[in-house]
Amino acid sequence: MWSIELSRVSKEFVLRHNPAQDLKVQLIRILHPCREKERRERLVALNGVDLRVRRGEFVGVVGSNGSGKSTLLRLLAGIYPPTRGALSVHGRVVPLIELGVGFHPDLNGEENVFLGASLFGLSRRKARGMLSSVMEFSELAPFARMPLKNYSTGMYMRLGFAIAAHLDAEILLLDEVLSVGDEHFRQKCFSWLARTRERDVTILFVSHSLELVEKLCDRAVWLDRGRIAADGEPSSVVAKYRGAS
Ligand SMILES: Nc1ncnc2c1ncn2[C@@H]1O[C@H](COP(=O)(O)OP(=O)(O)O)[C@@H](O)[C@H]1O
Ligand SMILES: [Mg+2]
Repeated sequence: MWSIELSRVSKEFVLRHNPAQDLKVQLIRILHPCREKERRERLVALNGVDLRVRRGEFVGVVGSNGSGKSTLLRLLAGIYPPTRGALSVHGRVVPLIELGVGFHPDLNGEENVFLGASLFGLSRRKARGMLSSVMEFSELAPFARMPLKNYSTGMYMRLGFAIAAHLDAEILLLDEVLSVGDEHFRQKCFSWLARTRERDVTILFVSHSLELVEKLCDRAVWLDRGRIAADGEPSSVVAKYRGAS
C-alpha cells in the first residue's frame, strides 16, 4: 500500500574548503601535515523528513532553490544513502532527474535509448522493440544518429521523458522535467501523465510551476530548508508556500 516511506530522514553534505589546490601547496601539506587545516562545513540538505506516499499517488514537491527537493529525489533513486533515518521504496523506480536516464553525451540518441533501457534491466531485444515508439514519442527520429552532446536541453528532455515513459515505472521521479521543451511536447507529457495515474503509478513531481502542481497532483509537499513545511491538498499547500515567499 505504501510506495515510498521515509522516517526521520536527514541528508548532510560535507563541504571541504581547500585554500589552494595546486601541486606545490599539496606537497607542502604532505611534508607539514599540520601547517594548514582544511576547513569543513556541514550542510544539512534534508532535516528529519517524514513522508509516506501511497501507491498511485501523484505528489507535487514545491520549495525554493536549495530547499532539498532534488536531494529527496536522489535519495529515492538510490544515488546516495541518507545520513540518518530510514527510507524504503516498494516498486520499480524510474528517475528522470537531471534531464536524463543515465545519458552519455558521446552516444547518439538511439544508442542512448539502448543505454537507458539496459540500465533498467531491459534486454536488447526489448530495447529494440521500444526504440521506434520512443523515437515517435520524442519526435526525435531525424536526430536518432546525432550525438547527444549536440542536442538542445529541450531535445534532451524529450528523449529522457520518452525513455522513462517506456520503462514500466511503478514509481516515477520527475525533477523539473517539464520546465524545458515546447508547449506541444509539454501537452503530450501531461496527457501521458494523466493516463499513467490511472495505472496506479506513484509519481513524485518536483516543479517550479505551482499552477502545474495544482492542476496535476493529488497532493503537494512543501519543502523549506530541508524540512516539510506543509503537506496536503495542492491548493492549500501552494497557498501556504505563496504566502511565505
Ligand atoms: N552533492 C552535493 N554536495 C554538496 N552540497 C549539495 C549536494 N547536493 C545538494 N547540495 C546542497 O544541498 C541543498 C539542497 O539542494 P537541492 O536538493 O539541490 O535543492 P533544490 O533541488 O530544492 O533546489 C543546497 O544547499 C545544495 O547546495
Ligand atoms: Mg533541484
